[in-house]
Amino acid sequence: MTLITWMDDFSVNIKEIDNQHRQLIEIVNQLHRAMREGKSSQMINDIINRLIDYTQYHFETEERLMEAYNFPGYVHHKAEHAKLTRQVQEFQRQYRQNPMGLSVQLLNFLKSWVADHILQTDKQYTRFLNNQGVF
Ligand SMILES: [Fe+2]
Repeated sequence: MTLITWMDDFSVNIKEIDNQHRQLIEIVNQLHRAMREGKSSQMINDIINRLIDYTQYHFETEERLMEAYNFPGYVHHKAEHAKLTRQVQEFQRQYRQNPMGLSVQLLNFLKSWVADHILQTDKQYTRFLNNQGVF
């Protein structure tokens, strides 16, 4: 059982971003699997680190693109990225303190984080960037 399954609705119609979103979903699913299989907290922490690193890289890609094309929602979107980054870092801190208590909460957060951010916020730049010839 996977936590998040890619669906066509997630597509922002920009190849590089879609690929990164798939990769992001894959890492969240790996985390889910590792937790379900009761892997060591060291291993789980490694996956959370990977998730944070990849998220950083992915957010930078989106921000570079929005900035390059003067997307009007850039500042707002960037602020949302910063907030999500802070939240996931906070979860990591809490996880380190109390690995047992946090798994379900963390996974629920990540699941809605990925899905909601893609569907609600990322989708806002699709039409704008597609109109600029970015696919
Ligand atoms: Fe985004």
